[in-house]
Amino acid sequence: MAIERTLSIVKPDAVAKNVIGKIYQRFEDAGLKIVAARMVHLSAREAGQFYAVHKDRPFFSELVEFMTSGPVMIQVLEGEGAIAKNRELMGATDPKKAAPGTIRADFADSIDANAVHGSDAPETAAVEVAFFFPGMNIYSR
Ligand code: PPS
Repeated sequence: MAIERTLSIVKPDAVAKNVIGKIYQRFEDAGLKIVAARMVHLSAREAGQFYAVHKDRPFFSELVEFMTSGPVMIQVLEGEGAIAKNRELMGATDPKKAAPGTIRADFADSIDANAVHGSDAPETAAVEVAFFFPGMNIYSR
């Protein structure tokens, strides 16, 4: 399987619960490497741009409001099949439907406050990594 990079966000609910380290441990235990990271308190403009693909969905304003409610931890994960592997670790969008042992089953409270974001495909991963780490040298390791 190819070595990929994917964009991951620990959302404001999980940052507030102080579980960044526990979530990072899951990435590392699954063989994913954290090759870039930054903590950011997103502005409404940044969150709106990042989630522009969802701008016509009924929950768009709630999503932007939630994502700007506190700091988020943003990282690039690297590894074999990193995009699908991260989505598997995250579990379903709605924590009530997330498989036991997934990050969302263990740390998320609701479909809004669902602990983590992960890119869903190679094209979106490339766009999302460039959005938050523009022009940065990201080193493989
Ligand atoms: S996915 O995995 O992107 O296909 O999930 P999707 O269901 O399309 O949801 C896209 C993002 O919107 C968030 N979401 C919501 N936010 C607030 N309220 C409601 N009802 C809601 N439904 C979905 C969901 O958490 C996804 O955010 P990200 O950051 O992409 O995971």
